[in-house]
Order: sequence, then structure tokens, then C-alpha cells
Amino acid sequence: MTRYSALLGTGGYLPERILTNEEISRTVDTTHEWIMERTGIAERRIAGPGETASSMGEKASRMALEAAGLVPEDIDLIIVGTGTPDRVFPSTACLLQHRLGIRQCAAFDVQAACSGFIFALSVADQYIRAGTARRVLVVGSELNSRLLDWSDRSTCILFGDGAGAAVLGVSDRPGLLSTHIHSDGQYQDLLYVPNSIVTGDSGTGEDDTPYIKMQGNEVFKVAVNTLGRIVDETLEANGLQKSDVDWLVPHQANIRIIAATAKKLKMPMEQVVVTVERQGNTSAASIPLALDEAIRDGRIQRGQTVLMEAFGGGFAWGSALLVY
Ligand code: COA
Repeated sequence: MTRYSALLGTGGYLPERILTNEEISRTVDTTHEWIMERTGIAERRIAGPGETASSMGEKASRMALEAAGLVPEDIDLIIVGTGTPDRVFPSTACLLQHRLGIRQCAAFDVQAACSGFIFALSVADQYIRAGTARRVLVVGSELNSRLLDWSDRSTCILFGDGAGAAVLGVSDRPGLLSTHIHSDGQYQDLLYVPNSIVTGDSGTGEDDTPYIKMQGNEVFKVAVNTLGRIVDETLEANGLQKSDVDWLVPHQANIRIIAATAKKLKMPMEQVVVTVERQGNTSAASIPLALDEAIRDGRIQRGQTVLMEAFGGGFAWGSALLVY
């Protein structure tokens, strides 16, 4: 039997606190209009003091399990994509496993910045296809607000907090058709967070504060080109045409990057799931959050073909093509 990964259920969690552009413009030199025009972001969510990647991940996971008609004990592998783990170690996946009240199943994190969910999904798919896992909980959870320099107007406007989850199960029908992941470390200095607790002071006079550093316009250019290429790669691998894709669920970094990918697919924006306006960039959480929203509100229907794609620090990028 050919084994496929089927998407059994999704869940999403957003912290209560909404931070608007208007509020940000009271503390840094920016405006709602500038942020909307350059990014499409109007507001984002900010985690409360007691919240962490694992606590938000638990909320999203419980929703996904319920949607799948499963209980935590049914899960035999947990993979969390996060760049903002509760602890350096143990992994957020271990902490999530404990929160879910289960033991023994393997649990580990995947670090691929904003592409963390796609990378985690890709790993999960290999386990299911190989027959070594039957039900995998895949989570993207991020607490970006604590990695931001709130005095840096070029980064603090972009990111938000949240978590999304998906439960995959084994099926004899597709499912995930394919996943494609890539990395190129030569771009490490365009988007990164220093870890000076471990590395110490670089001594170069570089800014070693533990906040997101980004050369936004450079990231933008590479992202648009790279995402165009991964769309082609994904369709070619499956012998499909652009018109075969019903929904695009992109990583939500910037509406202009999303629109460029939609254009490449010749896809009207009505077929693109967009959450960036209300959530900002939630890194590894953005795709499962968008997927969950569009499944729950009935846009994405069983049997439809969904293309997910992501790009982020590394650079690391990837895609997944799913028949839901
Ligand atoms: N408000 C007002 N002005 C701002 C600003 C803000 N929040 N942030 C930056 N600027 C200014 C810059 O200081 C610069 O001013 P200068 O010309 O006087 O030096 C000017 O705007 C243009 O800066 P630039 O970085 O070229 O703008 P941009 O059009 O590229 O937009 C981003 C900046 C960050 C919105 C855009 O580059 C972007 O979205 N990049 C991708 C980032 C991303 O998605 N990262 C995550 C990938 S997963």
C-alpha cells in the first residue's frame, strides 16, 4: 500500500492583546499608512506575560486534536517548528508533550525560522510514508514580540505572536502530495537573532543584542524570486498546472510578497488565504494559523488542492502541496 499523510485536523491560537499600528506610531517614528502600504499589516497579537511557545502550542494542539477526533494519547510523534522556544533545551516539543499529559512518544523541535512549519510538516510526512509514525502532531508556535527591539521601526512593525497546529494521520489516499525544503546559509546575515549568551561578545563592535536584525529590502528581493521558483518546482514534481491549485496558503510576512507569489500562480487574491493584516508575521505559526482559519470558515473544502509556501531566516524555504 502507498502510504500518504492526510490532514486530520487543525487548530490555531492567538493571544488576546491586539497591538495596532496606531499604538506603535506613538512610540516609534512611523504611521499606520506607511506600514499598511509597505506590508499590509494593520495589527498583530502580543502574548501575555505568562504565555510561551509551549502554552500557546498546547491551545492550538488541543483544537487540532478535537477537530481530528483524537485524544493526545493517539499521537506517536510531536514536531514543533519554533524560533522562540521556551527554553534553549529541552525542546518546546517536550514541554508541549508534558502539557498534553502524554509520555514516551518522540518529541523534538525543528529550527527553520519562518519556514519551521513547512520543515516540520516535511519531516512528519517522511515518518508517515516510511511507516514509522501513524499520527503526528505538527505545530508552529512563536513569541516574536520578545525578540523585537521595540525602538527599531524597521522590524517591530512586522511581527506578531501565535500558534497553529495540524494533526497528520496515515491514509491510502493523498494527502500530502509532496513537500520541498531548501536552505542557503550564505544569507545568514540578512535576517537573524544573535545568541550572545552562548557566543559571547563578537568583539567586532557588531550589535549583539538578542533581537531580530534584518535587511528588509534585501530579504524582500530574495524572497520574491525564491518563492516563484518553489512554486514551479512543486507543480512540476506533481505534473500539475497552476490552474490545478485551488488555494494558496502562504507564509504571512508581507502582502506584497504574497501578491507576487499569487501573480506567479496567475491566481486571483480571492484564492489566497491572507491573515497578515490582522496577525502580522507570526513566523512558523503563520501557515497553520491561516490553514486553520480557512478550513474552519469553510473556504478550504475536502478534496481541494492547497499549496503552502514559506520563506525565512537561513535562508530556509519550502512548500507543501496538499489534497485536503
Ligand atoms: N516607518 C516609516 N519609515 C520606515 C519604517 C517604518 N516603520 N521602516 C523603515 N522605514 C524607512 C527606512 O528608514 C528608509 O528610510 P531612508 O530612505 O530615509 O533610509 C525607508 O523607509 C525605506 O526603507 P526600506 O527598508 O528600503 O523600505 P522597504 O520598502 O523595503 O520596506 C520592509 C521595508 C521591512 C517593510 C520591507 O523591506 C519588507 O517587508 N521586507 C521583507 C521583510 C520580511 O518579510 N522579513 C521576514 C521574512 S520571513
